[in-house]
Amino acid sequence: MTSGIDAIGFALPDAYLALSDLANARGVPPEKFTDGLGTTSMAVAGPDDDTVTLATRAAADALARGGISPADIGLLVVGTETAVDHSKPIASFVQGNLGIPSSARVFETKHACYGGTAGLMAALDWIDAGRSKGKKALVVCADIARYGLFTPGEPTQGAGAVAMVIGEDPRLVRLDGARTGRFSKDVFDFWRPIDSKDARVDGRYSVECYLEAVRGAYSAFRADEIGQQQDQVVHPATERFGAMLYHVPYGKMARKAHSALVALDFDPRPDESFVRLVAPSLKLPEVVGNVYTASLYLALLGLLSSDGERLAGQAISLFSYGSGSCAELFVGQIVPGAHLALADVFEIVGRRQRLDVAAYEERFRERDLREAHATHFDASTSLSPRFFGVRDHKRIYA
Ligand code: HMG
Repeated sequence: MTSGIDAIGFALPDAYLALSDLANARGVPPEKFTDGLGTTSMAVAGPDDDTVTLATRAAADALARGGISPADIGLLVVGTETAVDHSKPIASFVQGNLGIPSSARVFETKHACYGGTAGLMAALDWIDAGRSKGKKALVVCADIARYGLFTPGEPTQGAGAVAMVIGEDPRLVRLDGARTGRFSKDVFDFWRPIDSKDARVDGRYSVECYLEAVRGAYSAFRADEIGQQQDQVVHPATERFGAMLYHVPYGKMARKAHSALVALDFDPRPDESFVRLVAPSLKLPEVVGNVYTASLYLALLGLLSSDGERLAGQAISLFSYGSGSCAELFVGQIVPGAHLALADVFEIVGRRQRLDVAAYEERFRERDLREAHATHFDASTSLSPRFFGVRDHKRIYA
């Protein structure tokens, strides 16, 4: 493992909705969301936010935290499933906003929540194949997860972006792009038709599809390892990893996924290994909600910030799932000192403003309006860039 994550940054909307407030408004026991789903609040995008602004802010944060110049970037990929245009990629907006050189390769990847991992794997391949010629890759995962008001998916929304600078001799997490387990299958569990702002989902079926994928990807990973190590013993995942990370549409899904995975190793105590190996990475997803492509990497960011010092030098597993479906399980190793670059993460998250349900619903309407017209800025926010609206079919930012 000689390449991996050299710097990481993030961007969240400035406000959140407590799921206990949503539950009260929808006539549901709050425990259904907080305990049943394992989420306490979800990020709510404002009218000045869109996937471009979140991606740009996260990318700028990653470069700043890593002390990396835009001139050092030779590959820029944005993974998203909430793109703003059928043709022009969000990566081009980010390139323009940050001044990434015109010699860079710039594109967008899509496969539901797996889209960011597709970009990450492309970046690792690019570096490991020796094509980066001293440059680094910038991989951004950005999404606004939206199912619509009063839908069963409503408590599993969220918004945000995580950006990772990928390079050789990384300072945060070494990644092994050569040893991964994959599973893919044509299923209709979750989708968003071209003419719809809201995702469609067959909710309980999507849970089954996710679980089938986690079993498939871990089985493929183990089969590959057994093939490579031949007669050597392949130890159970819970003995090999200091932490096990999953795609987190909501915390309970990660718990279900973990039970499914460790059952393949005949783990008799999945709840015990969940608390030890998975729960530490759920602290951020629990208060942000589903961020689709960024969800797994938000879990990683939170883990590095809260437990990076304890886990220094240890191996971790990462499981990425995208509906439709494609999944991949891969392995990393936390570099000592990684936590130092992320000491302020939970403090930043704690500064967000709590919305009441009326203000949350109003943000839905304002965002739709902004997508249709150029309109006024919210002068009270200092976030940059901000989405101004659409004029002559072009998106305008300030
Ligand atoms: P639902 O039908 O409203 O909820 O939708 P439920 O009845 O299934 O209850 C949820 C859990 O709460 C259950 O726990 C209940 O027992 C429990 P479980 O049986 O699963 O362990 N519960 C309670 N607990 C405590 N106190 C109570 C109480 N009442 C019930 N009073 C569903 C839930 C997740 C289906 C819905 O929110 C949904 O459709 N969400 C969107 C889809 C989704 O997130 N799927 C996850 C897998 S697919 C995936 O991760 C990909 C995705 O990120 C998209 C992409 O790839 O791009 C979504």
